[in-house]
Amino acid sequence: MTRILVVDDEPSIRSTLSIFLVNAGYQVDEAESAVVAKKMFDAEPYDIVVTDIVMPKMSGIALMEHIRKNDSQCRILIMTGDASIETATKAVKVGANGYLNKPILKGDFLLEIDINAKVVEAKKQKRLDDLQQEEYRRLLENTVATRTETLSRSMASIIHLLADVVEYRDPYTSGHQRRVGNLAAAISMKMNFTKEFSNMVRAIGYIHDIGKIVVPSEILSKPGRINQIEYKLIQMHSQSGFDMLQHVILPENFAIAVRQHHERMDGSGYPLGLKDHEILLESHILIVSDVVEAMTSHRPYRPALGLNKALEEISANRNTKYHPEVVDACIELFRDDRYFMDDSLGEIHIPL
Ligand SMILES: [Fe+2]
Repeated sequence: MTRILVVDDEPSIRSTLSIFLVNAGYQVDEAESAVVAKKMFDAEPYDIVVTDIVMPKMSGIALMEHIRKNDSQCRILIMTGDASIETATKAVKVGANGYLNKPILKGDFLLEIDINAKVVEAKKQKRLDDLQQEEYRRLLENTVATRTETLSRSMASIIHLLADVVEYRDPYTSGHQRRVGNLAAAISMKMNFTKEFSNMVRAIGYIHDIGKIVVPSEILSKPGRINQIEYKLIQMHSQSGFDMLQHVILPENFAIAVRQHHERMDGSGYPLGLKDHEILLESHILIVSDVVEAMTSHRPYRPALGLNKALEEISANRNTKYHPEVVDACIELFRDDRYFMDDSLGEIHIPL
């Protein structure tokens, strides 16, 4: 219900107007001065204030100024016997919404009140609609955020599952994918890429050898030298990984980087013999990480070659086989930051 405050120091005017309003269905309060009205308004704001202008101690104009400072929505109607243009202009300047000349006629008065009450109701309705819309938007955002989080966690668990599958088949390279992924993420961060990008590279690293599950495990774990045919079979793993991941709902670069992780900048790699810019940046990072990790780890057919040998390999082939900036970042990481190979499970990011 619209709440109205009638302010006039003349008791007969106050009570007459109040009776008009109550009979018309409004909730009405009266104030015998602007000072009292100010206190009442501060205690509980009104939708409409009908006020006289000339009153002792505090004028209707001062009351309007006070109301406007605190409440831009309240409708203010002024009434006075002084019908000069100057008074009306002054009243509108401080924010009056209407002007009533005394003596006030019931019909005109209720019409003016009705117009302003409709404005009040429309504004209230709009605020309510806005609030509901805001609430709906927030609800929608929360739902989307929750679903995205669930999807992201579900995809992350698939990445970890895929990583485990390779490890079960090829226990001799236990932890290799995690170490490559973690090193690749550290190199990315060293190259000042974002955390999201670095965590995405880590995720690709964790599954980069997924194609090895098509290679017979006797070959993967065979001690001593492997023959040409066996080597060709092992080499198939990057293309196989690509073929497998193509059917998985993951960003396209995951499958591509998996296929490219044995390519070399000079075209000497496999399976496609790609060169330089044909190779994704994330692949360049994985290539260096894979080589360094592999050389520092023990293999069934050879002992670990050591970090120094690995770093010599990448610096000797900087800008020929390996991306120069990736090589620089990797060397800095080990030499300056004393990076240690890390096979723990790190944070991964899968762009959705
Ligand atoms: Fe590989």
